[in-house]
Amino acid sequence: MTVAAQQDRADKVWARRDLAPMDAYEFRQWSELLEARTGISLPEKRKSFLLSNLSIRMRELGYQRYRDYFHYVTDGRRGMVEWEILVDRLTVHETRFYRDPTALQMLREIWLDRLPASERPHQLRIWSVGCATGEEPYSLAMLVDDALLTRGVRAYPAITATDISAAALATGREGIYPANRLVNLPEGFRGRYFRDLGTNRYQVKDALRERVCFARLNLLHLERTPLTPMDVIYCQNVLIYFRKPQRQRILDRLVAHLRPGGLLVLGAGEITDWSHPETAIVDYPGTLVFRRSAPRSES
Ligand SMILES: C[S@@+](CC[C@H](N)C(=O)[O-])C[C@H]1O[C@@H](n2cnc3c(N)ncnc32)[C@H](O)[C@@H]1O
Repeated sequence: MTVAAQQDRADKVWARRDLAPMDAYEFRQWSELLEARTGISLPEKRKSFLLSNLSIRMRELGYQRYRDYFHYVTDGRRGMVEWEILVDRLTVHETRFYRDPTALQMLREIWLDRLPASERPHQLRIWSVGCATGEEPYSLAMLVDDALLTRGVRAYPAITATDISAAALATGREGIYPANRLVNLPEGFRGRYFRDLGTNRYQVKDALRERVCFARLNLLHLERTPLTPMDVIYCQNVLIYFRKPQRQRILDRLVAHLRPGGLLVLGAGEITDWSHPETAIVDYPGTLVFRRSAPRSES
């Protein structure tokens, strides 16, 4: 047997070795760390999610005990580097192009189709919060481009796409997706907005990719975020992982990033217990949208 084959066999044997079980104290340690650093709350029923994702990484590094790996992750600068890798494994990146067609249609009807003709091009600013691997911000970019083309309105659309996972953002920036991820796109969009790379892979065309700026941002640090006021903040399937007080704090901060008249688009049914004095709910069936009112004049 060659040295490489011996190594491969040893790796497989190692990978099959069972890790020590995670006790209640260790579970609490890990779930508190995750919540403190990301806001994501991990109930006991999601313990298997934590276990399987932690154990893959621990096997890669050769750790057998959860508490040893915990010390490694929480140990100074070395731990911070490891955390950057781990956070990607402990966050759910499930997403799709045109995941919520009703919300996109709503944006078209109540915003894009009502943009007045104007001498100067409109500046349109959209923020996809928790954008995962890019399907959501690119869907928004396609929606806007199509609406502007159809109406002949001139505008400079800029889409900011943020997430806590550096790996997900890197996939978004590259904009390459297998053919089966493109099936929900409206007719004609695949040909218009994607380049066929062969071998069943498609890349978002440069003109659209250039409109989307991907950036790392932890939702827990929104107060440090210097963004220009947005026309639309689109935040779906992210806050469902947070506890109510954290969710409400984040929503309040998101409102502060909206321009007067701007729209905050959440997932339908995601939030039932939040309101804000400067927002009113938009009545559009099958969606959850808030519009920011003009600031009250101080008198
Ligand atoms: C399920 S995906 C949702 C993707 C997309 N918004 C959609 O609806 O298809 C949730 C995303 O939220 C991100 N996320 C979780 N906690 C975060 C935090 N504290 N700050 C920023 N992004 C976070 C995850 O990395 C993940 O990519």
